[in-house]
Amino acid sequence: MKKVGVAILGMGVVGGGTAQILIERKKQIEEEYGVEVEVVACLDKDTSKGARYGLDASYFAADIDEICANNNVDIVVECMGGTEPAKTFLTKALAAGKSIVTSNKEMFSKSWPELEKVAAKTGAGLYYEATTGGGMPIIRMMTQAMQANTILEIKAIINGTTNYILSKMAQEGADYAEVLKDAQALGYAEANPVADVEGYDSSYKLSILSSLAFNKRLPVELIEREGITKITKEDISIAKDMGFVIKLLAIAKQRDGKIEARVNPVFLSKDHPLANVNDSFNAVFLVGDNVGDIMLYGRGAGALPTGSAIVSDIVFCARQDKHARYGEMNNVMTSKDIDEDYPSEYYIRLDVHDVAGVIADVAAVFKKYKVSISQMRQDDRKEIIPIVFVTHEVKKKAMMQAIEEISRLSNVIGVRNVIKVER
Ligand code: HSE
Repeated sequence: MKKVGVAILGMGVVGGGTAQILIERKKQIEEEYGVEVEVVACLDKDTSKGARYGLDASYFAADIDEICANNNVDIVVECMGGTEPAKTFLTKALAAGKSIVTSNKEMFSKSWPELEKVAAKTGAGLYYEATTGGGMPIIRMMTQAMQANTILEIKAIINGTTNYILSKMAQEGADYAEVLKDAQALGYAEANPVADVEGYDSSYKLSILSSLAFNKRLPVELIEREGITKITKEDISIAKDMGFVIKLLAIAKQRDGKIEARVNPVFLSKDHPLANVNDSFNAVFLVGDNVGDIMLYGRGAGALPTGSAIVSDIVFCARQDKHARYGEMNNVMTSKDIDEDYPSEYYIRLDVHDVAGVIADVAAVFKKYKVSISQMRQDDRKEIIPIVFVTHEVKKKAMMQAIEEISRLSNVIGVRNVIKVER
């Protein structure tokens, strides 16, 4: 039977989950897939971290060079996180002819072309299922099962922390700051939540998915990004009343030879399949020209879900005679490929003085920029009243100009939020 030696870099939550699954499933993997997979080395400052998986200090290498020089190591699994030294370690491993499996979305989305270049030279494999969607096998689905399709659209909930926060805000009628504090206390959100709540994490993952979908690398910098920190309980309650939920979506659409790529909170119609993806769950919704709609749903993080994706990559990698190469890495999108002025419907919430003509003033600006209204609602308060509009589709630049002009109207106290609408 083919023997495959694995080295795990980083024995934290994900590295530990991977070791646990590999040990528990060893026999089943041998019987079902005909490969004997064994952890033969680890790398972590704390050499006691492998004890519970039967990996005593003798398994722990002194440094990455020792792992690269170890002839028993065929696959290097990176579960360290952070861009460095992860990138340097994986570059060394690939140069030594070791295939790599990584769960590191930030490092991989930024360094994929450089890693691919080194891998192509030595013929080593590059596997990254666990970078996106945790336990959901979305990468394998896109690379192995969509041959008959041009992917037209991706809509995804690929950050569990923000989905958890938005779900709790909706369930409890609570404000963002309150829920974030609870989520941090429970360990669902990081002490420094910026990467999650400002949409960076989703944009790394969207870059990976879009590059595969459109056969051309989409650099992270070209993705429009907006987080969830401005969402209030008022917005969530209005959304509910109007038949929407608020979700942080990662969206990429192919239209007229250009790509619309963005991460932002949206008013999502409650009838959309993604609207029922709650708590820390992830889901990816794809539209292929032949297959139509597909959706994958699952746990986007955690030791065993992420370990599940990593082990799937290890077994897949172990059974390949020749590894897939990623031609799209030589073909990179520039700002010319991006549709920055895409059409969208919008939700707009204003506070205005309750005086005659204020609606007419706002409507005049909408008329000037050809913004057509599909829904309007006015709440009853005293002198200051909140007014909400939902528009028909309008190009982004025209909408932003209209908003800017509305914010300067004398009877408009403030534009409280502007959120895109998806159906
Ligand atoms: N911070 C990520 C999330 C973890 O909240 O989904 C998985 O990448």
